[in-house]
Amino acid sequence: MEKRVIVALDFNSSDAALHLVDSLDASLCRLKIGKELFTACGPELLKQIQDRGFEIFLDLKFHDIPNTVAKAAKVVGDMGVWMFNVHASGGHAMMEAAREALLEFEQGRPKLIAVTVLTSLAQEDLNQIGFERTPEEQVSKLAFLTRDAGLDGVVCSAAETGLLRAQLPKDFCLVTPGIRRAEDAAGDQKRVLGPADAVRSGSNFLVVGRPITQADSPNEALKEFNSAIAGVS
Ligand code: C5P
Repeated sequence: MEKRVIVALDFNSSDAALHLVDSLDASLCRLKIGKELFTACGPELLKQIQDRGFEIFLDLKFHDIPNTVAKAAKVVGDMGVWMFNVHASGGHAMMEAAREALLEFEQGRPKLIAVTVLTSLAQEDLNQIGFERTPEEQVSKLAFLTRDAGLDGVVCSAAETGLLRAQLPKDFCLVTPGIRRAEDAAGDQKRVLGPADAVRSGSNFLVVGRPITQADSPNEALKEFNSAIAGVS
């Protein structure tokens, strides 16, 4: 089975993260470790989770000078991470440096994707930091920059998936958070998409947090997400 669901481990302690991890079947999903959990527990916990058979998306969104990001990318490669990300607004040279730092890893090479525009930024926020385009235009521009730097794909919101899939080649990977079943609470997510609709609109991987992590039975909820997208293309 292709593991398209990435469960977001949005926790601040090893105990809380491992409690959830130990309830999930590693053959059914991948796991995302972000800034909160990595800052609290670091590479040690990441390794413990990998030792349980899970592949990791390390969501640290690197954004720095090319040399620094390249060195961090090499460390991520050495940790055997499956996928990680950088900010596309760090520029072409930064993204290219990160990609080049991964060349030595050959088949075990992590997938490298970019964040285009944070979904928390509306038009006014973009204007304040000097971006004059609409959020959609900016997302599209940065997705092309990411593709041109040779990266594997981008993180994009449910609302952007269809547009980017229409513009970018099939092998360019789209990773989409904000996924909810009809019965799930949206929480703080403003625009959500059902799992099957996300895949139909072109998403390759679905990042799902609370609908799975806060479920009475996380593994059953995960299975429902997988059933919802089985056979959908
Ligand atoms: O709990 P929920 O399903 O909303 O979690 C979604 C995960 O995806 C969280 O880890 C969140 O930080 C992340 N994410 C997001 N929206 C983005 C980028 C990342 O929700 N635009």
